[in-house]
Amino acid sequence: MTIPSPTEKTLYARLGGYDVIAAVVDEFSQTFSTDARMARFVSAMNLERRKRNRQLTVDYLCAASGGPALYLGQDMKTAHEGLGIDASEWDIAMDHVQRAILKLKGPDSEGNELFALFLKLKNQIVERE
Ligand code: HEM
Repeated sequence: MTIPSPTEKTLYARLGGYDVIAAVVDEFSQTFSTDARMARFVSAMNLERRKRNRQLTVDYLCAASGGPALYLGQDMKTAHEGLGIDASEWDIAMDHVQRAILKLKGPDSEGNELFALFLKLKNQIVERE
């Protein structure tokens, strides 16, 4: 991990902090959870579980972007092991994420950096072609 120098702002700060990250997560959670192709993931979780997942995802992204958050959830491989997520489901999910980032951040470089945090998780989350 690189420790940012005082003059170098973290991605978290450059994005606009907690509220922006939470808004991105809420936006893609909303479109993801109403996408029929993702129904098998959503219907298996009760409301409390969905809220917990949402919060842990916000925390994860705050921590991963250099913000003052401690992610207390499972590592990404453990969290998704056994769900049998395939490459096309991954692509659909990333489409929702990309649209949410574009909607809330526009086509700026911070948005791309945030998206890159998602993309690098693929090999920990996808289990089959
Ligand atoms: C195709 C993409 C994805 C699908 C279908 C998916 C689905 C799921 C499901 C169903 C769970 C609940 C597992 C359980 O409690 O039994 C879960 C947990 C979780 N996911 Fe994902 N996920 C995906 C991608 C991601 C990505 C990209 C992130 C991070 C940015 C993420 C963050 C999390 C977190 C933080 C948890 C909770 C971990 C815990 O309970 O400790 N997921 N995911």
